[in-house]
Amino acid sequence: MSREGTATTGREVRPIAHPRGEVRASDFRVVEVEVRQPRAGEVLVRNTWTSVDAALRLRLRETAPPGYFPAFPLEEPMEGIMTVGEVVESRADGFAPGDTVWHAAGWRDYAVVEAEKEALGGVGTLTKLDVRAAPPQFYLGALGGNGLTAYAGLFHAAGLRDGDVVWVSAAAGAVGSLAAQMAKIRGHRVIGSAGSDEKVRYLLEELGLDAAFNYKRGALPDLLREAAPDGIDVYFDNVGGDHLEAALGALRRSGRVAICGMVSEYAAEEPQHGPGNLMLAVTKGLTIRGFRGSAHTHLLPEMTRHVGAWIREGRLRCHETIIDGLPQAPAALAGLLRGDNTGKTLVRIDGFTHRESAIA
Ligand SMILES: NC(=O)c1ccc[n+]([C@@H]2O[C@H](COP(=O)([O-])OP(=O)(O)OC[C@H]3O[C@@H](n4cnc5c(N)ncnc54)[C@H](OP(=O)(O)O)[C@@H]3O)[C@@H](O)[C@H]2O)c1
Repeated sequence: MSREGTATTGREVRPIAHPRGEVRASDFRVVEVEVRQPRAGEVLVRNTWTSVDAALRLRLRETAPPGYFPAFPLEEPMEGIMTVGEVVESRADGFAPGDTVWHAAGWRDYAVVEAEKEALGGVGTLTKLDVRAAPPQFYLGALGGNGLTAYAGLFHAAGLRDGDVVWVSAAAGAVGSLAAQMAKIRGHRVIGSAGSDEKVRYLLEELGLDAAFNYKRGALPDLLREAAPDGIDVYFDNVGGDHLEAALGALRRSGRVAICGMVSEYAAEEPQHGPGNLMLAVTKGLTIRGFRGSAHTHLLPEMTRHVGAWIREGRLRCHETIIDGLPQAPAALAGLLRGDNTGKTLVRIDGFTHRESAIA
């Protein structure tokens, strides 16, 4: 592909309609495009893995929430999705063919990436990866933005203190499973919740959490009380809605909420009401703090040092839900939003279905 005078036909997944309710494959199409040669300061990357994230649902609405990454324009390639690939051709200092990199031009099989251009608040800027330390796709999960989000949420937004009892919602998902394990490694009592009995077993038996429950099996306040009879000190919120309300009820004095996301509300057409018991923030002196992983890129080296060691020592597990083939990316997202996934959801891009054609 990198040879002078050749061009590659690449594929891109593009949104063609704003999903109403559930995400459907028919909201997208796969388009064949001619991939141009990189110019000075750019590299051409053959993508091998691309990320599937709950928050993509927010960007598939007509407008994304103010202050967030912008909505994806219809009929255009989707900019700002974490992806790993191999450099095919480089015209940028510091990158050579064969290097494994991450960047943010995902949901396509080839990307021309400007080396210096900041992407996703810095988390997605073109970066060379150490694949001797970990498999490339780990850099989309535990050693990338998901790890950073879990780390920043727990240790900065929530200000985890010795002895805190921690509840993590969507605990079997990508960010949740990392936050729950990090809190466990730091010696906390950790409660996880998820949407199936199988996931509850995963949380207890594979991740070693102290308690876990299936939020579909009863009233949340009751389930939480059973798992944490004396209350909680920290709630790592991935879900919002009824989960946040239940947490406010269970939090002890001076408790803290790190609002990471509100996946239960992403498909809502109308603005959602906040928790009905917010007054408890006053009576109990709670701190409720939203945060973005991408606002903490300065923590990346520290996070990767810790998480890399925990993975090597077998203390932190990186479960993956892998879907094969770029055209399956929309179905993978729909599955994640339904809760089909455990751990990090990844699309393994089939790099060998591209076609090369000589330029006349
Ligand atoms: N602040 C940041 O910088 C940042 C960065 C990345 C992600 N996030 C947030 O982190 C959260 C998790 O994202 P992720 O990409 O790691 O996805 P994920 O947790 O791997 O997948 C989403 C999970 O949400 C659960 N879920 C879906 N609808 C739900 C509902 N109505 N009630 C309860 N649970 C529901 C599903 O699991 P169940 O089977 O358990 O229902 C599903 O597996 C999201 O809120 C996302 O926006 C924030």
